[in-house]
Amino acid sequence: MNRLTVSYQPSAPADATIARGVHTDQLDAFAPTERDVQRLTGFRAKVGDVHTTAENGSVVLLVGLGDRERLDLAGLRHAVAAMVRASSRTDVVATTLLDDIAGPDGDGIDRSAAAAAITSAALSLRYRFDAHRSTPSTDGPNELVLVGPADDNVASAMQRADAVSRGVELARDLVNEPGGTLTPAEFARRCEALAGPQLTVVVHDLDAIRALGMGGLLGVNSGSTEPARFVELHYRPAAPTKRPTLALVGKGITYDTGGIMLKQKASALLAMKNDMGGAAAIVGAMSVFADLDVPTPVSAYLPMTDNMSGGGAYRPGDVLRMYGGTTVEVVDTDAEGRIVLGDALAYAKAHAGAAAAVSVATLTGTAIHATGMEIAALIGRDQSVIDGLLASSARCTDRLWQLPRVPEYRFLLKSGIADMTNRSEAPAASAFAALFLEAFIGDVPWAHIDMAAVATRERDTPDGPSGGRGWGVELLIDYATAFGA
Ligand code: BES
Ligand code: MN
Ligand code: ZN
Repeated sequence: MNRLTVSYQPSAPADATIARGVHTDQLDAFAPTERDVQRLTGFRAKVGDVHTTAENGSVVLLVGLGDRERLDLAGLRHAVAAMVRASSRTDVVATTLLDDIAGPDGDGIDRSAAAAAITSAALSLRYRFDAHRSTPSTDGPNELVLVGPADDNVASAMQRADAVSRGVELARDLVNEPGGTLTPAEFARRCEALAGPQLTVVVHDLDAIRALGMGGLLGVNSGSTEPARFVELHYRPAAPTKRPTLALVGKGITYDTGGIMLKQKASALLAMKNDMGGAAAIVGAMSVFADLDVPTPVSAYLPMTDNMSGGGAYRPGDVLRMYGGTTVEVVDTDAEGRIVLGDALAYAKAHAGAAAAVSVATLTGTAIHATGMEIAALIGRDQSVIDGLLASSARCTDRLWQLPRVPEYRFLLKSGIADMTNRSEAPAASAFAALFLEAFIGDVPWAHIDMAAVATRERDTPDGPSGGRGWGVELLIDYATAFGA
């Protein structure tokens, strides 16, 4: 699986296809015949338009940038995606986009921000998951060169965007890997492979999970032949820091059948290899913290199991004793995410010494109905954590929308025989789930991201192929970087 190389160079390599950005106000400057060809092929220099032509004996891609005053970073990303898609038959593309987007007075989009957006949009569109193809794709391009005069700010912005993209790609790989191959043991091994001087990885196997008393994780795991794992990742900045620790807790359900309350729709089942999207976002983000020199200590807690319906499976009515002693009556075997997260949150509260905790999970289908397919739901008890996450979201492409916390539902979590149940009432499922989680994090300032809507793209779109999106990686990197500053 070869990855696109993105670099910044003063001039285009000799063998490169040139890609030139064109605003709508530049169309009239083309020669009449060229204008006719553009008209015939429908090229109007709109964002998303790409036109192949020849200039002075070389192949040139004209990349539509739309109206000069209207172009923003999102538009630039779309234009880049179209450019990369149109370059699948070439090896090296060199583009003058950074100069082409500059307004007549050189103002407009910041050059470093543009270079970062071009880098991440190109890498994102060019991503593919070939692990299970007998013949990997040979489509190009293999190299993208941004052409421009030496500029340290631009070069370092591109380097950062490239590192962030590597984290995004890791999360996409993990989400795309089928439930049958990304078992809890395999997921844990892939985490261990990330260990380094600044990243400690601790894997608790089934015996250790038993010894810890994580009855929630054990309960969900009981219907499976694949043993559960509980993984801790501890990132420490290179230089000593006064910043407090941030705790991240991610749902790592490697496949969710619903348990013996089996999911009814084949389409729902097909999507359920993505049920570790929260853990994947955290792992993807933390895999590049050291490269990005993130200045905050971060500890992650990732419960990993599938939710199967084998002979030993937990039953509705069973009572689980969670880490720390709280008991939960299982009323819904398909509300397994909050159960494994309950253990992990209680463990994080006891061990992380964190100033705040964020849980990230593909928790409820209801979140999709609340926010649609592009936006994750955010619910929490501590507005300061929520505000920090919203601020991070505004600085990147991972969108969030705050949903209300509804403490009035709490009495519905009461059980006749245990401390609480994992009950959920359909229209309010996201809020029920968040209230359940809140009981386990105690007084640690906390917010919860329900990313059921955004873990995968169901269909190919102009921005990328169907499958894992790596949603949350950029967001968590930004939040961790800003945390406690
Ligand atoms: N993993 C699902 C949630 C989900 C649904 C993620 C769609 C991604 C896409 C979760 O474990 C689940 O089954 N939730 C139930 C609610 C629960 C109370 C039974 C759901 O959403 O239907
Ligand atoms: Mn479920
Ligand atoms: Zn689930």
